[in-house]
Amino acid sequence: MCGIIGFAGKSTRLSTLLDSLRKLEYRGSDSAGVAYINSSNQLISAKTVGTTEKLMDLLPDKADAGVTAAIGHSRWATHGEPSKKNAHPHLDCSRNLAVVHNGIIENFEDLRDRLLKRSHVFLSSTDSEVIAHLIEESYNGDLIDAVKRASGELEGAYAIAAVHKDHPGVVVVARKGSPLVIAHDGSRGLASSDVTPIISYTREVIYLEDGDIACLNAEGISILTTSGEPVDRPVSHIDWDEQAAEKSGYDHFMLKEIFEQPQALRNTIAGRIRDSKIVLAELSSIEQHIQKAESVKIVACGTSYHAGLVFKRFLEENAGVSAEIDVASEFRYRKNVCDANSVIVAISQSGETADTLEFLRKNRKNCSASIAVTNTVGSTITREVDTSLFLNAGPEIGVAATKTYTAQLLLLYMLAIRIAQTRGLSEEKAKDHARTLSGIPAIVEKALVSADRETRIIAELFRNTRDFLFIGRGYSYPTALEGALKLKEISYVNASAVQAGELKHGHIALLDESFPVFAVAPSDFTKVKMASNIMEVKSRCAPVVLLTDDNASFEDQLSVIKAPFVSEWLYPIIAAPYLQLFAYHMAVLRELDPDRPRNLAKSVTVE
Ligand code: AGP
Repeated sequence: MCGIIGFAGKSTRLSTLLDSLRKLEYRGSDSAGVAYINSSNQLISAKTVGTTEKLMDLLPDKADAGVTAAIGHSRWATHGEPSKKNAHPHLDCSRNLAVVHNGIIENFEDLRDRLLKRSHVFLSSTDSEVIAHLIEESYNGDLIDAVKRASGELEGAYAIAAVHKDHPGVVVVARKGSPLVIAHDGSRGLASSDVTPIISYTREVIYLEDGDIACLNAEGISILTTSGEPVDRPVSHIDWDEQAAEKSGYDHFMLKEIFEQPQALRNTIAGRIRDSKIVLAELSSIEQHIQKAESVKIVACGTSYHAGLVFKRFLEENAGVSAEIDVASEFRYRKNVCDANSVIVAISQSGETADTLEFLRKNRKNCSASIAVTNTVGSTITREVDTSLFLNAGPEIGVAATKTYTAQLLLLYMLAIRIAQTRGLSEEKAKDHARTLSGIPAIVEKALVSADRETRIIAELFRNTRDFLFIGRGYSYPTALEGALKLKEISYVNASAVQAGELKHGHIALLDESFPVFAVAPSDFTKVKMASNIMEVKSRCAPVVLLTDDNASFEDQLSVIKAPFVSEWLYPIIAAPYLQLFAYHMAVLRELDPDRPRNLAKSVTVE
């Protein structure tokens, strides 16, 4: 998730702009850049790999003096690896204008082809660079009009800020789908991806709406709608401090990231479902191998492993290919696991997990193709595979994987459907699945509203428990595993998970009135069997929490949470936020910091 910033007006200081840009780095930062108009009305730009810290050294001495307008960018790669050439700002061919962008331009390939035919020269592999060239094409002396016309060609999500050497003291911004806040502090117009950098200058801000274009200068700000009509947007007063602003007002990054899931899922889908067809262009180089594969080997750790378990089941049901999964720390030591007819799918949000990487290093050459599913462009895993699929979920700061888990599930469903299509899944069925997947972000969005309240009530009931056993069957067994992992890692409750059918084979001996069971039991084919497992639990006097769905009719004396009803294969993605929130509330009620659980690291780079 990138961050953009813009300052307009003679009192602009680059050092101040860079300080403000630094405040956006919590959103993720693998490279950074600025462009500004100096006192001689020249456009100067500087970019670097790494954080904003390095940028100041790249700028000429006294760069601060006479700057009239400046834009900055903190990048977290989605299209193109982290590198100087891919860092923003991007310039047009004439080098008269510079643009920074946050979001994903879904039709950038079409736009780039068209612009290339008209002799534009591209220097980066980003989707964003098309914006600079589109504005250049539309420019006839009026920067606002050019940004407006260029925006009209963009599909996807964007927050843009642009400066032009013929418009000293001016920054023009536009937004659709990506956040953008503007403000005026009396002498400068300010724009930013969020309020964090702005609140040191003013607490009165305007949240632009989709389609808005705004012009900022020393005198003030003016806003136009898509159709070019002037419009007033309400001014909001911010009473958060800077630390709270980083978390958009949430108490913890984990909670913020749980609530970011609808947007993260939209970003995962962006550009990948077109006319009800799933498009994963990244697979084109290995399509033949996928088609001929006799088996798929899935490797991952922790939460990523749970996503892999769901993938295995869905893949087998739809693609008719055998799929094997193991945790990387075991899989890497097994012998003869891959052959020339197998394809590896390695799942790792960080792309840096040591055991997963070692499995790839050992086995990659023995299989016909390898795919990484990761959230981190430029991570080590992307160099160890034939092709990578990126989650585009934005950086995850909380140690507990939340939005990256649901984004993994979504992308893995898409991958499974594409694999199935090469092996005979009908186009109609594939389209059906694609349409269903398109609706998932909205269902998660709706579910989150009540999930927060309901899980908190249950957490209050169980805040002092020492143990929890999670049970599930079918697609809900990985969900039970994930629920137990979330709970143990941030609330330190002794939580484990077992397939509900295994209860009688030993685990039930643990249960009594002080040992609660969390049953994940949607109204799918497992419902009847789950109902009898729950009876077994209750007859041992163990308290039961039931996570089910709107269609279920389980007895009501249990602590019941009802998620929206969806097809059984999709339930893991709908159920996950409930389990994340339950774990979160348990941690907070136990006065623990969910963002920094003891003994854990975000990337496990050691074996
Ligand atoms: C999940 O909440 C954990 N932080 C952990 O299990 C994590 O999923 C695991 O370490 C794998 O990480 P990866 O996805 O970056 O490879």
